[in-house]
Amino acid sequence: MALLIRGYHKASLLLVVSYYFLVLNHICAEQISSAGRCDLYQGSWVYDESYPLYDSSKCPWVSESFLCVPNGRPDKDYLKYRWSPSGCHAPRFDALDFLRRYTGKKIMFVGDSISNNQWQSLTCMIHAAIPNAKYSGHLEQNTVFINFTDYNVSLLYNRNVYLVDLVAENSERVLKIDTISTGDVWKEVDAVIFNTWHWWWLTGSLQGGNDWGSPGTNCANHTAPIYGTVYPGSPIPGVAVVKQVLSRMSVHVNLLDITTLSRLRIDGHPSRYASKGGTAHDCGHWCLAGVPDTWNSLFYASVVLSESA
Ligand SMILES: *[C@@H]1O[C@H](CO)[C@@H](O)[C@H](O)[C@H]1NC(C)=O
Ligand SMILES: *[C@@H]1O[C@H](CO)[C@@H](O)[C@H](O)[C@H]1NC(C)=O
Ligand SMILES: *[C@@H]1O[C@H](CO)[C@@H](O)[C@H](O)[C@H]1NC(C)=O
Repeated sequence: MALLIRGYHKASLLLVVSYYFLVLNHICAEQISSAGRCDLYQGSWVYDESYPLYDSSKCPWVSESFLCVPNGRPDKDYLKYRWSPSGCHAPRFDALDFLRRYTGKKIMFVGDSISNNQWQSLTCMIHAAIPNAKYSGHLEQNTVFINFTDYNVSLLYNRNVYLVDLVAENSERVLKIDTISTGDVWKEVDAVIFNTWHWWWLTGSLQGGNDWGSPGTNCANHTAPIYGTVYPGSPIPGVAVVKQVLSRMSVHVNLLDITTLSRLRIDGHPSRYASKGGTAHDCGHWCLAGVPDTWNSLFYASVVLSESA
């Protein structure tokens, strides 16, 4: 799940933060259904020769651990799937239109390495579509800035695994759910996208250093998605909680309800191609190009559809 919050100001930011624990995932699906529109997140994966949207080895921002093909992944079909909503047509990602819609704006991805995965994907999608677009980048504390200067759009990735502060107190690690010490950067941005995945795998103690507590799926050797519209497994309890909480929020929050469509992509993880000749077995992150491109395409689609309502 990923959340997009648009156009908030300081007051609403506080609201998000203080509701945060309860909050985690409201949906704008209500707005969508009340506007008589379709559910972008209900659908299936279809093979599409025109994919992938970019060649990851030509994108300057991809981490080695997401570079599955350069790391030796032999099968390539997993690059070729497009998400197809059942009840409607999702507009194809249009980088130029996206940048024009966000001219003068800063979009920030905040969160763990999955947010980084999604941020890298979006920067690559834009770079591949407009290869001559000038950009500048810099790092400020825990935030990376990429500014597509011709269009005056900045894409930020603010690393903060739990969104709120995690501090050491009496040799314990404590989550401070009402403080974000790196929060100043939040005030400068126009849209924030974060994912809540990490929260649902917390157990009694926080595992130090390990960024990703992935559930125990084995994704090795899968070369095709799970077909159909239904994930054959139990729902993730957090999804319902998030939707319920979001339905009570007054801040404009748009839920990118990508949990199911991502779970269908058992073939989309780096698995043992998270490094060259590596022994890791990564079923938590996603190869690039790959599934996060769909998250960003749906982000774009939801912006286009909500603005044309
Ligand atoms: C870019 O956008 C910012 C924020 O809206 C604005 O202050 C600035 O003047 C813009 N710069 C250019 C070169 O258009
Ligand atoms: C992008 O960079 C230009 C030049 O440094 C700056 O004027 C502008 O404000 C930046 N735009 C955004 C949206 O951060
Ligand atoms: C995946 O395939 C490799 C190579 O054929 C094999 O050694 C390995 O056991 C397989 N892993 C799983 C989990 O099936």
